[in-house]
Amino acid sequence: MRHLLSTRDLSPQEAVQLLDTAEEMAAVSTREVKKLPVLRGRTVVNLFFEDSTRTRISFEAAAKRLSADVINFAAKGSSVSKGESLKDTAQTLEAMGADAVVLRHWASGAPDRLASSGWIDAPVINAGDGTHEHPTQALLDAFTMRRHWSRVAGRESIGSDLAGMRVVIVGDVLHSRVVRSNLWLLTALGATVTLVAPPTLLPVGVSQWPCEISYDLDAVLASEPDAVMMLRVQRERMEAAFFPSANEYSRRWGFTDARLARLDAAVGSDAIIMHPGPMNRGLEISSAAADSPRSTVLAQVQNGVAVRMAVLYHLLSGDRSSNPVEQQEVGQ
Ligand code: NCD
Repeated sequence: MRHLLSTRDLSPQEAVQLLDTAEEMAAVSTREVKKLPVLRGRTVVNLFFEDSTRTRISFEAAAKRLSADVINFAAKGSSVSKGESLKDTAQTLEAMGADAVVLRHWASGAPDRLASSGWIDAPVINAGDGTHEHPTQALLDAFTMRRHWSRVAGRESIGSDLAGMRVVIVGDVLHSRVVRSNLWLLTALGATVTLVAPPTLLPVGVSQWPCEISYDLDAVLASEPDAVMMLRVQRERMEAAFFPSANEYSRRWGFTDARLARLDAAVGSDAIIMHPGPMNRGLEISSAAADSPRSTVLAQVQNGVAVRMAVLYHLLSGDRSSNPVEQQEVGQ
């Protein structure tokens, strides 16, 4: 693995290895000293052409916990044309010593362009490109699901994959890079995925995707899924009206108080409720659902740091096979 552009590029073995390394990293994050020296002297650049709260901070925390230096570059407002500005900016940052570029861009395909152009040598990590992919979000979601799935199975240790897990993803599939990255990764790890969305918020060609499609959220919830992931309604990417009103959307497609009550009343259902954030409370998810014991919203944020540490470690450390925690102990 030289770059991380898409979860489609990951073999199940590579994905499991990243998740296992992330477990090691998560263990480090519970120590009093949350730092490993493995990327000392390396520089990670966060190059963000689109708004972000948790992804940018999470990459920054991850790089710092591995002792790398971090440069944050918010390119919003640049008046240079897309291709030139991306090339010039990336080359400038590499000239300043960037060893890895974490790129968020509003244009789908921008990270692939940067990685394949030969403009820079540094590994490129896709931190979300347009409506295309968001691989580290999918990895942190899979990490969160794997922990849940192991608990459900009553395992002492974390199982390797998600074989047999049933995941439902609900909402604005059309504009979501999170759903795309999740779909490729979850199916590679053995989970089955059902998408629930208004027909207007499903992309052309969705019938070719490796998942079931449903328009009936209540029926899907009654089938006792193991995880329900709510997607944000991405108003900033909508030029037209995709649904009649916010009330109508939340009544049909939202995780409402009533749906939470029905899930809680169902015997034996231990489904978790996920959301990548930022949440539109009251639209795709009610506050009661977002704050319920089933919700993994904050666990997802926490797990994101460990997963991004694992990705940076695999891409930047010379010795990819060794255990980073043991490596530290040897180095001490
Ligand atoms: C997601 C994104 O930016 O794609 N958010 C995130 O990274 N946590 C999802 C979203 O914006 O809805």
